[in-house]
Amino acid sequence: MEMTKRPRRLRGSMTLRKMVRETRMDKASLMYPMFVMDGENKVEEIPSMEGQYRYTVDRMGECLQELLDTGVTSVMLFGIPAVKDEVGSQAYDDNGIVQRALRYAKEHFPQMYLVTDVCMCEYTSHGHCGVLCDHDVDNDKTLELLAKTAVSHAKAGAQMVAPSDMMDGRVAAIREALDEAGFTNVPIMSYAVKYASAFYGPFRDAAGSAPAFGDRKTYQMDFHNSREGIKEALLDEEEGADIIMVKPAMSYLDMVAKVREQVTTPIACYSVSGEYAMVKAAAKMGWIDEERIICEMAVSAYRAGADIYITYYAKELAKCMDEGKIG
Ligand code: PBG
Repeated sequence: MEMTKRPRRLRGSMTLRKMVRETRMDKASLMYPMFVMDGENKVEEIPSMEGQYRYTVDRMGECLQELLDTGVTSVMLFGIPAVKDEVGSQAYDDNGIVQRALRYAKEHFPQMYLVTDVCMCEYTSHGHCGVLCDHDVDNDKTLELLAKTAVSHAKAGAQMVAPSDMMDGRVAAIREALDEAGFTNVPIMSYAVKYASAFYGPFRDAAGSAPAFGDRKTYQMDFHNSREGIKEALLDEEEGADIIMVKPAMSYLDMVAKVREQVTTPIACYSVSGEYAMVKAAAKMGWIDEERIICEMAVSAYRAGADIYITYYAKELAKCMDEGKIG
């Protein structure tokens, strides 16, 4: 057989395979989404996300310590307030759940990098991501409240803010408000390419944020579209987003790859609650190898072009990186 090119030649041993890996990753790029709730001395497991919990502020240290022990150094905080209202006032209350969690984490875990999800849906009684006008979210009125929320987070110690509401113009509004308040150095990671997705199901269960009526299709993107995703990414970059996010991950890696070619910012990719829940459920049934599946999912996100990977499996992946299974 005359064959000069044999791709198998580079697959002959583990050492060689590792040597020629095209995708490298580091624990520093992992971010863990974490739920904090009002109340005292409680850690509650989320039913549809086995192994994930909601923490009261006085118990969140347990989770932060575990993360640091495995080398995960950034978290994204989601708040679950005790009371919700029409205008989501707990979102921008300086004494709200996320603000208190930030002050606690900043004081007790200064090594942890604190990012906050900026949105209204966990705080509104109707579960939509902004204030309503009739039965739809009023874009421009919502901008003011998002900007107030971001500033309130920064004042409480957020080192980065991540708007996930999908209102038009929110990056510019938040940037302007942060700058005016003196937070010119707080970056914005924009959930720019965020689809209306059934993959968020378990999250809404975790945060009690399912919309009371209708859905999020008038603000989150239609999953049939990819050019529209590029448009969202470019607009947000122009408005001053420092990092562009694509979400969900697994079914949207085409968008990670496409956006990578269009923007100059780092790209974050969020493997969402539904992806976690599917893997957990199948693993529990003994139908898949959980560790190998999560490694494959993570590497594929980086291979597509992600610089940051946001995942409920951050700790497990950090261990896999330490053990040289990936990375
Ligand atoms: C808030 C928000 C959501 C998620 C992140 N930020 C829910 C939604 O948009 O309905 C989903 C995260 C996940 O599913 O893990 N808007």
